[in-house]
Amino acid sequence: MSAWATELDADAPDDHAPLAQPSVTDTVLVVDFGAQYARLIARRVREAHVYSEIVPASISVDEIRARSPKGIIFSGGPKSVHETPAPSIDPGVYDLGIPILGLCYGAQLMALQLGGTVSRTGQGEYGRTELALTAASPLSPDWPVTSNVWMSHGDAITAVPEGFVATAKSPGAPVAAMHDTDRRLFGLQFHPEVVHTDRGSEVFDHFLIDVCGCLPEWTHVSIIEQQVAAVRAQVGTDRVLCALSGGVDSAVAAALVHKAVGDQLTCVFVDTGLMRSGEADQVEDTFRRQFKVDLVHVKAADRYFTALAGVTDPERKRKIIGELFIRIFEEVARDLGAGGDGSAGDGSAVAAGGGAPHGDGPRFLVQGTLYPDVIESGSDTAANIKSHHNVGGLPEDLAFDLVEPLRLLFKDEVRAVGEELGLPHEIVWRQPFPGPGLGVRIIGEVTPERAEILRNADAVVVEEIRRAGLYRELWQSFAVLPTVRTVGVMGDGRTYAYPIVIRAVTSDDAMTADWARLPYDLVERIASRIINEVEGVNRVALDVTSKPPGTIEWE
Ligand code: XMP
Repeated sequence: MSAWATELDADAPDDHAPLAQPSVTDTVLVVDFGAQYARLIARRVREAHVYSEIVPASISVDEIRARSPKGIIFSGGPKSVHETPAPSIDPGVYDLGIPILGLCYGAQLMALQLGGTVSRTGQGEYGRTELALTAASPLSPDWPVTSNVWMSHGDAITAVPEGFVATAKSPGAPVAAMHDTDRRLFGLQFHPEVVHTDRGSEVFDHFLIDVCGCLPEWTHVSIIEQQVAAVRAQVGTDRVLCALSGGVDSAVAAALVHKAVGDQLTCVFVDTGLMRSGEADQVEDTFRRQFKVDLVHVKAADRYFTALAGVTDPERKRKIIGELFIRIFEEVARDLGAGGDGSAGDGSAVAAGGGAPHGDGPRFLVQGTLYPDVIESGSDTAANIKSHHNVGGLPEDLAFDLVEPLRLLFKDEVRAVGEELGLPHEIVWRQPFPGPGLGVRIIGEVTPERAEILRNADAVVVEEIRRAGLYRELWQSFAVLPTVRTVGVMGDGRTYAYPIVIRAVTSDDAMTADWARLPYDLVERIASRIINEVEGVNRVALDVTSKPPGTIEWE
């Protein structure tokens, strides 16, 4: 369902049961002391092929013990340990005998809780800093005496706790690294998770493998094996329904579930008439022909254009598009016998495929929820809660149990799994696309003619961006159609037609974005191709607005 829930659903409760945690893999807990540091650390641990999970600082020692982690990492955070309140953790964590690595704020908290000193030295360090090793450390056994690390701190550890030794310093941090190897406790003032720290990833390798004794078993192959087993265990012999959107999350979720339960899966693809060029064919090709999935392809463009006729308000458009999707999905589900009463829906929307015996309908629904969605829904510390689209979305009275095979995964892991499962590159690397599709990129009333113009212009933008080798580098690159008309001249004649706006942005997480500095010759190529090839367009403009103050989409 991922791309289909609209922003209006962002407050939907996240009350579904989590999937069983991986059973054969060593786990490292990343304690979140605020901001977004924890997420990057968790990803670095996964890149070292060890399973990681982010937990709030309020976690109790009993809960930690119950999870049996092989190691614990304390994240950095935006506060000073001297602020009140400042995030803290039950000091009983140090007596569990589990190795702990404290980073930045996490190192200072460790120092303070164990009897060391953290001072406001007035000599903070921000950015690239030279680190000098002063003693050997198992985390950096073969580092040169000096190296570049990334720092971001105001306070500094000035005296180590009893039992610790300082192993590195920097101009603003007398204790830039410390450890107590007997208790396997480590603190680093710098950020090894940041790419600007030389050999930062090695710190994680040494901590995870040498100190914690983790086995590097978290690979995309093992992820698939584990999730396939988990889905089989959850679903048994019941039937499963999955809505495909054309996007990467629902595609990978569907492919995984199909690998797990084969014919028990039915996929539903609703063509709203507001999809990108080639999207419907790609879904057909991949899922029906390549994967041999039972696919219900609902051709619903007419219904969407009828429902959207005369509507210009962006929120109303979103609502109409979202609600119609739910209605169509319910019809399909009823046709397939879901819901238990065995009654058939009117079936008017179903163009092909499907056809399960009534009364034996799907009990489970696949949802492409990712780990960042789970963190954002459940975390009590993340300062920056994004209004996201993957959790919730369908009304609860649909009475499905949710299957969420991507619930533990970061986006890069989802892509790796997708490639491993044999999904085409175009799907696996597709840029994000809003659930309401081209509907929110036509500024004004949505009509079939305008959707066709925008789809054709968008195809040119995407094709040229790909050809220039920029598609993966950009977060999103697409066309927008403001429904005003302007005067132009073509050949001997005057034209009165629509403009197209090129929107291309770079971003890490869509929370903020910068307009992409596309090369002028590329902009020129896109503009002249659109004007020459797309009937109904006589002008092309480039959007040079960042987010904030703009948003990525125009509506
Ligand atoms: P904005 O326009 O708010 O978009 O900067 C941030 C990111 O979210 C995507 N987006 C949506 N995704 N349903 C979705 O599934 C929606 O209604 C929706 N609106 C925006 C947008 O493409 C961008 O990646």
